Amino acid sequence: MFRLLAVGAVLVASALVGCTPPPGSCPEAESGLRDLTAVQNLDIGTAYRAQFAQDDRCYDPTAIREFNSLTPEIATFSNRIAAVEGRYDFSEADAICSLAREHEASCQPHNIIWDPQDHPEWGIVPDWIRSQPPDQRRQTMIRYVHDVVTHFSGQVEAYTLVNEAFDGAGQVTGGTWNTLGDDSFIVDAFRAARLADPDAKLFYNDWGAEDINPKSDAIFALAQRLHAETVPVEINGTIQQAPLLDGVGLQMHIGIGPGQAPDPTSVAANIARLSGAGLLVRITEMDVRLPVAEDGTATDADLQRQRELYDTMVQTCINAPNCSGITFWGFTDAHSWITENQSSFPGQGAAHPFDRQYRPKPAYQGIKDAMT
Ligand code: XIL
Repeated sequence: MFRLLAVGAVLVASALVGCTPPPGSCPEAESGLRDLTAVQNLDIGTAYRAQFAQDDRCYDPTAIREFNSLTPEIATFSNRIAAVEGRYDFSEADAICSLAREHEASCQPHNIIWDPQDHPEWGIVPDWIRSQPPDQRRQTMIRYVHDVVTHFSGQVEAYTLVNEAFDGAGQVTGGTWNTLGDDSFIVDAFRAARLADPDAKLFYNDWGAEDINPKSDAIFALAQRLHAETVPVEINGTIQQAPLLDGVGLQMHIGIGPGQAPDPTSVAANIARLSGAGLLVRITEMDVRLPVAEDGTATDADLQRQRELYDTMVQTCINAPNCSGITFWGFTDAHSWITENQSSFPGQGAAHPFDRQYRPKPAYQGIKDAMT
């Protein structure tokens, strides 16, 4: 009886940890995507969640072999850093940035100011901030940005600072951070960040704004304005005027269904207009979700379409001199925010370049093709 229970517990446990490879089967490779970056001088990165490394011995070796940039997947959200008033917790973020440093990779604090309008249940903004009166909340935001950016200053080259502050029509949203009903909270956040880290690259980030559309028009206008607005900062002992913002992050959560991926020509045009205004671009959260069967697998035909999309979008970035890097929102189907969020992505999965056993998928080859 006890044996049966124990076997049952092991089965349940292995189902919960997803599909971590059985002992002895962690695939190895001589080189990774990062070895192909020298020519394009490209940052090639992944979202990284510390918890995944604990129960999966393939997670770290693969992340380190493949990527020269790590983005904390959740560790730099405000509910992680500032869950409790008066105390900051940088432990996971610091661990990720030291892992990156140890392996000569960059580390990009991500989505410091974000209140997802479509997912209030994620609780990204802690209640102690949400319940403050508007004036106080604005001051909290400015101090929070200052403190977080000061913490990382000197250790990181870039921040994805403000996330998802526009709706599809290009109207400013921002949820609880938007205390005045205008875009001044975005300006205040960037100013506070610039003053705290004079020479880092500061990005605004959003989804559905990869191509030219009303939302990306609004982001383009804002980015131009914030790039033109400067503050005096000290860099290498001299006072200089530094722009509030350097670039725009394109999330690139896409799929193969109708309307789930932007037209690459329009993405290229959007990146080009940002370039014309002196702005950097980064693909910040790329994944390509597929319809999957009960066991999480996709069809060969869909895996080929996924390969094409990875290839095309990575190529689009590489072709643009102002596209400074690409971050994938996870790299293995063993650990995926798409699979975890089935209410948002019913029946979708298999979104990443490696399968659940860490074998490279056609998508991986597509990325490689784009990079060589
Ligand atoms: C997601 C993480 O992947 C999840 O683990 C977390 O529960 C919620 O946030 N757009 C973004 C990312 O800008 O920060 C989100 O990441 C995915 C959507």
